[in-house]
Amino acid sequence: MWGGRFSARPDALMQAINVSIGFDRRLAEQDLAGSRAHAAMLRKQGVISSEDEAAIQKGLEAVGREMAEGAFPFRDEFEDIHMNVEARLAELIGPVAGRLHTARSRNDQVALDFRLWVREAFDRTLEQLRGLQRALLAKAEANAETLMPGFTHLQPAQPVTFGHHLMAYVEMFGRDASRFADARRRMNESPLGAAALAGSPFPIDRHATAQALGFDAPMANSLDAVSDRDFALEALAAGAICATHLSRLAEEIVVWMTPQFGFIRLSDSFTTGSSIMPQKKNPDAAELVRGKAGRALAAFTQLTMVMKGLPLAYSKDMQEDKVPTFEAFDSLEISLAAMTGMIADLEPVPERMAAAAGAGFSTATDLADWLVRRLDLPFRQAHHLTGAAVKRAEALGVDLAELPLAELQALDPAITADVYEVLTPAASAASRKSYGGTAPDQVRAQVARWKEMLK
Ligand code: ARG
Repeated sequence: MWGGRFSARPDALMQAINVSIGFDRRLAEQDLAGSRAHAAMLRKQGVISSEDEAAIQKGLEAVGREMAEGAFPFRDEFEDIHMNVEARLAELIGPVAGRLHTARSRNDQVALDFRLWVREAFDRTLEQLRGLQRALLAKAEANAETLMPGFTHLQPAQPVTFGHHLMAYVEMFGRDASRFADARRRMNESPLGAAALAGSPFPIDRHATAQALGFDAPMANSLDAVSDRDFALEALAAGAICATHLSRLAEEIVVWMTPQFGFIRLSDSFTTGSSIMPQKKNPDAAELVRGKAGRALAAFTQLTMVMKGLPLAYSKDMQEDKVPTFEAFDSLEISLAAMTGMIADLEPVPERMAAAAGAGFSTATDLADWLVRRLDLPFRQAHHLTGAAVKRAEALGVDLAELPLAELQALDPAITADVYEVLTPAASAASRKSYGGTAPDQVRAQVARWKEMLK
């Protein structure tokens, strides 16, 4: 393709380090789409003849068919996807294939192909995130009243509902979706026609190719067009944050599945056994979702390192943009799918959750709040008095709700029997009616709001 000024073949090592067809063959469809749009534009602008364009389009179609049938010969000697397609095109239609590369360089070509690929990855991920949110919503709605302990420091803090807990993740994945959608909007400009770096002397119509390929506009600076990779960086950053959310949820599933917690059950579909310990049922899928988060962040770090020292415009370093991006989105895709499956599959064990929700003096704050509201104590004093009640209950080996009234009255004689109404986990959760709080009605309101938004 570029042999004119060369008299010797590249060293085998040169080819080995240079070749990218092993991974950039994933850009085949995008490469063909870009070429079709480019050829049509060249003809419309009078840069190539109608007959030549027709031959090129027919040839590109044939190449597409070979690819669909798995018959396309991907060859290392042609280095990358762009030259593999062009070489095959020449074999199929002859020298007229050489006209396709008029007013185009591999630099804007790869920038285009990769951008199209990332744009599709955004769309797939957004679709998957909506699916995951729907699965979470369904579980949350069914468990708007299911009590469980809410934790801080992984110590029982206050009773919450399982529905409320799941809805927290609906919020997180909602922000992830908005990050992806936002980045997609920003990246939707076409680099095609920037050519090698400086633009083209041919009367090309960059607006036409941009439109044909679904972009909002052509990129406004040709140097930027061939050397920008922040669309991929943004995708990877959003992907890393999303993977972090998935990992936190995965971690909770792992913890909830332990016999010590016993909060949920996963069916045989999302667990595995042990080859030596017959009793085992392991949450491997959750563990792998947690583990794969490492890849997502590594990919972002990797591409940032590739880009940070590059002068304008294109440098071959940028060929290293694809592998981390493909890998990050492959692992995000399987993680989102597996998590959606697990959420639909998991069943809470309400007795275990409720028992834990009441343990660890989890309604102590409710007692303190009662003292403030009913006896008009300053909160600090109420906090201190409640601490004394917890200490006493601990000494007697009972829960706060089981502490005899006489014991409470020993701390403050004004305490009356109706205090027990706030000391159950159900009453505690139901009382937290503030906007975004854990009261079942609040949870249902949030479920309804999200259902509407995800329609
Ligand atoms: N395979 C290359 C890449 O992925 C295509 C662009 C090559 N451009 C060049 N001037 N060598 O970046």
